[in-house]
Amino acid sequence: MSKSLQYVLGRGLGASTRLNFQHSILKEHLNGLVHSKVPLPPRPVIADIGTGTGIWPVEVLTRLKWSKDGVQGAQLHGFDVSKDQFPHESLLPKQVSLHQQDAFGAYPDKFVGKFDLVHVRAFVSIINPDNIKPFLRGITSLLKPGGFLQWVDLNPINTEIRYIGRGPDPKPGHIQYAVDQYKAFRGVPIFSDLDKHTLGHGLQLVSHDASRLEGFMLPLWFQNEVMALEDFYVRPAKMSGDPAKIQQAEETVASFINEAQSGAYISPEVFVRVMQKA
Ligand SMILES: C[S@@+](CC[C@H](N)C(=O)[O-])C[C@H]1O[C@@H](n2cnc3c(N)ncnc32)[C@H](O)[C@@H]1O
Repeated sequence: MSKSLQYVLGRGLGASTRLNFQHSILKEHLNGLVHSKVPLPPRPVIADIGTGTGIWPVEVLTRLKWSKDGVQGAQLHGFDVSKDQFPHESLLPKQVSLHQQDAFGAYPDKFVGKFDLVHVRAFVSIINPDNIKPFLRGITSLLKPGGFLQWVDLNPINTEIRYIGRGPDPKPGHIQYAVDQYKAFRGVPIFSDLDKHTLGHGLQLVSHDASRLEGFMLPLWFQNEVMALEDFYVRPAKMSGDPAKIQQAEETVASFINEAQSGAYISPEVFVRVMQKA
């Protein structure tokens, strides 16, 4: 855990609800879960790093149009440093198993060199220049030769504010603050030069697609943002028991909501980066 930062989001019911909602937004926006540049073999072996609630591996199994044999023989493994958001194992399809594992540590030998695809999603608040090397080393160790890494994330650098409405632009004080906070993430140097930080670890670039959440996705993303704010801002204030902190946190979220209702939304850039082990 030495290379890990403290995880800023919670792992309670609200956090899990938000992750499952975010999963639906990203799946809809990207029109699926596995990029077309990732050719899965029959009976694929797939890992999901930082799996959270495990929704990605479960849905990959149930939604992909595989042959019956492919579904029966598939193996999907979700890894996460915490088991707190895992559903009870009796609720999982038999092809899906979830494991407690730090993404910056070494993986058990039984997983090394076994995977056709390693998927990572929403690691923007976790990755930084100090831990990217052990992170990629771990992923590369999991992949078979020729196996694929699919990394889906939000690029904080290219996050913008959209003004929707007929009147003059609202003043997005709190929304602008939230955008500025993204741009101050410790991982920003990585996201400003992904080639520099991700090539040369035994991984070659296959494709990098970037697109922006727009239109109907803006209010959905905004709802997701409000849930995140409630989780990492209001929840700790409430836990502190300090009435002044609670009031400030609640007022900030209320202002954030007001600004969106008067037409200022966050429009993040989503990327899908596909890399292949040599
Ligand atoms: C923003 S959530 C994304 C969850 C999931 N990938 C998704 O897209 O639904 C980040 C996840 O990374 C996990 N995480 C944080 N630090 C980690 C670490 N050092 N190793 C593995 N997982 C970690 C968290 O527990 C959380 O489940």
